[in-house]
Amino acid sequence: MECTILDKFVINGGHKLYGTVNISGAKNAAVAIIPAVVLCDEPCIIENLPKIRDVSVILEILKNMGAKVTRIGGDSSRVKIDPRGIKSYRVTCERLVGDMRASYYLLGALLGKFGSAVVPASGGCSFCDRPIDLHIKAFRSLGAKCELLPDRVELSSEKLMGHNIDFDVVSVGATMNAMLAAVRVPGRTVIARAAKEPHIVDLANFLNSMGANVKGAGTDVIKIKGVEKLHGCTYSIIPDQIEAGTYMAAVAAAGGDVTITGVIPEHLESITTKLRDTGTTVEEFDEAVRVIREGPLYSCNVKTMPHPGFPTDMQPQFVALLSSAQGKSRVMECVWETRFSYVPQLRKMGADIIENGNTAHVDGTTGLHGAKVRALDLRAGAAMIVAGLAAKGVTEISDIRYIERGYEEIIEKLTALGADIRRVTYVESNEDVDL
Ligand code: EPZ
Repeated sequence: MECTILDKFVINGGHKLYGTVNISGAKNAAVAIIPAVVLCDEPCIIENLPKIRDVSVILEILKNMGAKVTRIGGDSSRVKIDPRGIKSYRVTCERLVGDMRASYYLLGALLGKFGSAVVPASGGCSFCDRPIDLHIKAFRSLGAKCELLPDRVELSSEKLMGHNIDFDVVSVGATMNAMLAAVRVPGRTVIARAAKEPHIVDLANFLNSMGANVKGAGTDVIKIKGVEKLHGCTYSIIPDQIEAGTYMAAVAAAGGDVTITGVIPEHLESITTKLRDTGTTVEEFDEAVRVIREGPLYSCNVKTMPHPGFPTDMQPQFVALLSSAQGKSRVMECVWETRFSYVPQLRKMGADIIENGNTAHVDGTTGLHGAKVRALDLRAGAAMIVAGLAAKGVTEISDIRYIERGYEEIIEKLTALGADIRRVTYVESNEDVDL
């Protein structure tokens, strides 16, 4: 019999949340901005980095490639990255690259810097088939030859030139990769049907801080004039829209009165609107939102869409929230059509959810009770936490490594708000795997 030592989260639900929680830097901005430093000819200082596993992994990959990474003042939210030691376009640390999806940003960054890139296949949350055909389309538009092999992607070019790139589906990753590949390429690149998420704008702002010429980020059309060189800069990452939204959903689910600080309320608009539909009060300030839920929670309908629509990365947390709302809700997933694999876990907690294609019909009338559940991916894990905080009794969440990919100090932050949540180390034998 084989035994493994693992950690799980144990939540004793039913405690209302009160107080203040501060939001960390945005994961999905950080994991693109760190590879973007590869394009630079000088060191950069990146501030407000979230202390999460995905950031440690991408920094480790850069170190493996030859970059020098130094924490400033012993604080891992502020690092200096010196990319001058990166001499090769070939990334070899397969295990690290295979641990995260966003390592595909190295393709755009290395292609932009060296005109070639060899990057092992990336991994990450696998709630869906996650194609990269649009990334490849962008690289080919700039003149790269692309080969997709089972274990790696190889890009090469004789001469890259700015070009029009017209995406037929709005893709965050492909828009970011197109920007990374194009900023140092001669000529003008126009990205049509670009994604507009806050992290797209953040990457553009970072590239411009290094001397790039990127205009229009945050609209459907991004225009880039290639520059020869990029210089070092100091840049602070935006707050994490989805971490903030997750705490907002947690307060709505558990009840209470929490002020969420260090946020950009405009980035939370679609989440705020839906929470108000559930009877939750959301007050907006310059850099904070206050979420109050004292009365009943009502059902509502949600449809995920690219920004500025309701974010798919908040869909599981909302299904968890609506699982204890009075009445029937309809949640339609329009970005990742099969992103409902966590639903059976919520059913273990008593959730009444029927899936029909890309729609989940949620009846919250009976509410939730504690159960043993798994975090199947990052946001699925966040949904289990939201559900566990609202449920009667004890919820045990295993596979928490997924949650730690993207939420900084979640136990500490929730405990400070009055939640009864703790990390418990346990030994699992191959005889008692609970699916
Ligand atoms: C980013 O993934 C995020 N990841 C995801 O967050 C997020 O769910 C997603 O954007 C949508 O907002 C990072 O930023 C690291 P997409 P990405 O390309 O870029 C289709 C989280 O939990 N598509 O915008 O991979 C695709 O199938 C993670 O933090 C193609 O068809 O997503 C999907 O339906 C999970 N071909 C749609 O586009 C492609 O080449 C949107 O995907 C690429 C995408």
